[in-house]
Amino acid sequence: MRRSASIAATGAYLPERILTNADLEKMVETSNEWILSRTGIRERRIAAEGETTSDMGARAAQQALDQSGIDPKTIDLIIVATCTPDTAFPSTACYIQAKIGATRAAAFDLQAACSGFLYALVTAEQFIASGAHKTVLVVGAEKLSSIVNWQDRNTCVLFGDGAGAVILQHREGGRGIVSFDLGADGTQTEILSVPAGGCRMPITPEVLKNRSNFLQMAGKEVFRQAVTAMNRSAEDCLEKAGIKPKDLRWIIPHQANSRIIEAVAQRLSVDMEHFYVNLDRYGNTSAACIPICLHELNTAGKLKQGDLLLMVVFGGGLTWAGAVLEW
Ligand code: ACO
Repeated sequence: MRRSASIAATGAYLPERILTNADLEKMVETSNEWILSRTGIRERRIAAEGETTSDMGARAAQQALDQSGIDPKTIDLIIVATCTPDTAFPSTACYIQAKIGATRAAAFDLQAACSGFLYALVTAEQFIASGAHKTVLVVGAEKLSSIVNWQDRNTCVLFGDGAGAVILQHREGGRGIVSFDLGADGTQTEILSVPAGGCRMPITPEVLKNRSNFLQMAGKEVFRQAVTAMNRSAEDCLEKAGIKPKDLRWIIPHQANSRIIEAVAQRLSVDMEHFYVNLDRYGNTSAACIPICLHELNTAGKLKQGDLLLMVVFGGGLTWAGAVLEW
């Protein structure tokens, strides 16, 4: 029999340094007015010099452990969603395993860009559902400031650093993930990518000169695809769960752009007050967005047992994902 996986604890970590729109006005030709009206972002966090994705992920994981009193040695598995790993290998999950003392845990990274956390959550759920593992730590952590081209105003205003974590365990009587949808379209890799730095285009003086080791995005096309895919994924999850939007306590969308979120809200005919949005404070933290939102809702006491949440995301790949979760 499948065992449901519930979220037993949450944690988040945001670096101290705040980069405001006014700060960006001094770095590239932009304005607070443009950034706010086109994206909804006011400020974002930037990791300290030398602070890594695993440092941030470990801080978020530690908070989840402290909050729940779960012993790190009982963690069976760690899955880290990130597109900004500390190193090509070992995995960021292995660094985090050492930092939190989860000595019994298997550990691996999962890469689905901004959709990574939901891909990881669904993967983790399968291990619990099958009975293979009892306690799984899922982390979404990103140091996007390390892959952003700080000379490109089209992209550098959008992203921030941070991490979030959840611990999954079976809870008697809980339904956990009620439905999910994972998807990808590998024919559109070019519209959102970091072209160089892998084996396809190794770092050379030419690459560094062209700055092709940094994130590149066809903003308008990504915007269009994001609205379509997030809407489709949300509807698919609702249908599989056999529920209507009015049954949801919260919708947690990918925190990329308030206009994308408003477009999704409009298509689903759901009032914006049911959408949880914090992108004004953190920008797009990619795989870290959803667990940071979950932690904020949790610590603010805005989640009650039995509440239904819909999470829906979109990112490079292209990838998208949705999940209905019973809290
Ligand atoms: N400040 C001032 N002007 C700017 C800036 C800026 N920071 N950035 C771009 N502009 C200019 C452009 O150069 C353009 O000028 P032009 O008309 O003279 O060429 C003008 O503003 C309009 O640009 P648009 O591209 O039309 O602006 P748009 O309304 O599409 O907004 C944005 C751009 C915010 C990037 C939007 O397209 C967007 O949010 N796209 C989706 C991003 C996203 O969702 N990413 C999610 C996945 S991320 C991941 O997976 C890592």
